[in-house]
Amino acid sequence: MANIREIFDFPKVLNINIVASIIIVSIREIIMINLDSFSSFFVANWKLNGDFNFIDQYFDGLKLLDDKSRCIVICPTSIHLDKVSQKKNNYYVGAQNVSQYSEGAFTGEVSCKSLTELKIDFCIVGHSERRLIYYENNADVYSKSIQLINNYIVPIICVGETLEEKENGQTNEVLTKQLNEGVPNSSNANNTIIAYEPVWAIGTGLTPSIEEINTTHEFIKKHNTRFNDYKVLYGGSVKANNANDIVSLTCVDGALVGGASLKYEEFSKIIID
Ligand code: 13P
Repeated sequence: MANIREIFDFPKVLNINIVASIIIVSIREIIMINLDSFSSFFVANWKLNGDFNFIDQYFDGLKLLDDKSRCIVICPTSIHLDKVSQKKNNYYVGAQNVSQYSEGAFTGEVSCKSLTELKIDFCIVGHSERRLIYYENNADVYSKSIQLINNYIVPIICVGETLEEKENGQTNEVLTKQLNEGVPNSSNANNTIIAYEPVWAIGTGLTPSIEEINTTHEFIKKHNTRFNDYKVLYGGSVKANNANDIVSLTCVDGALVGGASLKYEEFSKIIID
C-alpha cells in the first residue's frame, strides 16, 4: 500500500518542486538593481523617436564599455521596449512613463506589470514634458513611483524649475515641493533615482553653469536628510562636449540625455569620456 501511495504522491512532490523552482527563478528575476554597485548613470531618453530600423542601426553602432561600473539605461517608446530589450548587451532598459493604476479601464495606458513582464528595470517619472503637456502633477508622480517600487522597477523621478521660476529666484522652493510631494515614503536611495532637469535647459542648448549645477544637486541632496544618499542625475542639453564636466561634479551621479542620446556616436562619447 505504502508503495502505491508513494506512486500517487509522486506528482504532488514533483509539482511542489516545480512551483518552488518557478518561485526561485521569478524572485531572482524581479530583484531590484543594486544602485550602489554603479559609480555613474547615463540614461538615454529617446522620447517619441525611433523605429525598428533606427534601433538596429543604433545598436550596431553604439560603443559600450566593458566597465560595468557605469550604468547605461536606454529608454525607448513603450512600443519599442521589447525590441530594445532583445538587443540587450551591457545596458539596461527603461520606460518613459507608466500608469499609476495596476489594471482596469484605462485606455492607452501601460501598467507596471507589463513592464515587469518585459524585465524593464527603470522608468522615468514626472518628466517636465509629461507635467506640461499631459498635466501630470506631484500626486501622479507619487502614485506612479509607488507602483514602480512595488514592482521592483527603479523610478527616475524628474524635478526642475521653469525659466520664470528661476528668474523669480524660486528654484529651491519648486524643487522642495516637487520632492516632498512626489517622492513617496517607500522611496529610498536604493530603489529610486532623482533627475534634476531645469525645464529651460531641455532641448535649448542652454545649461546652468557648472557651479550652478553642482550647487543645485547639493541642495537636492542636503535640504532634507532623507535625500542625502540619493543618486541625482543632471538632464538638459547634455552633449558630448559638456557631459564629462557635468558628470565629474562631486554632487552629480550621472546624466539624463535627450537629443544627444539619439545619435549613437555622440551617446557613445558621452558614456566613454
Ligand atoms: P535634451 O538633452 O534634448 O535637452 O533633453 C533632456 C531631457 O529631456 C532628458 O529627459
